[in-house]
Amino acid sequence: MAFPKTRMRRLRESAGLRGLVRETELRPGRLVLPLFVSEAEPAARLAAPLLPDGPFGALTLPALDRLSISALVERAHEAQELGVGAVMLFGVPSHKDAEGSGAWDEEGIVQLALRALGQALPELTVMTDVCLCEYTDHGHCGVLRENGSGPPGVDNDATLELLARVAVSHARAGADVVAPSDMMDGRVGAIRAELDGEGFAGTPILAYAAKFASAFYGPFRDAAGSAPAFGDRRSYQLDPANGREALREAALDAAEGADMLMVKPALAYGDLIAAVKRETGLPVAAYNVSGEYAMVRAAAQAGQLEEGAAVAEILTSLHRAGADVVITYHALEAARAMAAGR
Ligand code: PBG
Repeated sequence: MAFPKTRMRRLRESAGLRGLVRETELRPGRLVLPLFVSEAEPAARLAAPLLPDGPFGALTLPALDRLSISALVERAHEAQELGVGAVMLFGVPSHKDAEGSGAWDEEGIVQLALRALGQALPELTVMTDVCLCEYTDHGHCGVLRENGSGPPGVDNDATLELLARVAVSHARAGADVVAPSDMMDGRVGAIRAELDGEGFAGTPILAYAAKFASAFYGPFRDAAGSAPAFGDRRSYQLDPANGREALREAALDAAEGADMLMVKPALAYGDLIAAVKRETGLPVAAYNVSGEYAMVRAAAQAGQLEEGAAVAEILTSLHRAGADVVITYHALEAARAMAAGR
């Protein structure tokens, strides 16, 4: 029945009516806050402003601060108090080598942080990023092999064993969920087998299943010190042009035993959030990445948009697209706004 019988505006007339028919509602328990934990001295810990003299003035990205373990515990505590669903840990080690051995060191920065969080906040759900790029001196997500006369490439199969070692060391130190972000083929199966063999059959894997070679990771790479020393990540991360290929990645990770699947970045990939959800039926996480966070911060600091409203719109739209979980640098602010009923 069309206009004038049907008038879409009838249900938009009051806050009460709008509330009754609202289709999606986000809550803090669906948000994940990424946190960077560093071994560096306090003076070196704060990420530098990205555009100190730029047209926006000093762009501040407080969620990308490198934290000491005690500062990490404090911020994680704040997240827990606000009902944020989980935190996701990224390590910023002071020592790097060709293999990234700091990543599975039982006394490594993430392992130490996990034990500290387990002690201080036993109820908090802690996820860890499982990758080698923060720990390798070349910044790639796996070990290198010679490649004739060209630059070295990342050795997929040799990397699997190392990633599995990292995941087990995280589980042993208390990680509740491990999240491999390297994009090697077969890593979910390799990690699952190693976890099961080491007594961690109950530890879920959140696979960065559809992770694209994106221009939106810049601020993260500054914060984590993980930019590749040469080349780029296009030989392992997805081409932003390829949706069908992303769905094949998602199906493979599901078949290898992933418990949750991630689409990353988020804002330009809503089609894939919806499709991965529809086609796999698994819980889907959308990673609203560092460059997306920086875009909103920059526009807000330039007075061009209202940050809280923009964040609420972004996070709700990712949830509407099908994301069960949203990983966001705005998790604390968003959870605070939700608690205040904004
Ligand atoms: C490591 C990793 C990256 C991000 C998460 N894990 C960077 C990359 O692939 O270069 C990016 C997260 C962000 O930009 O917020 N492999």
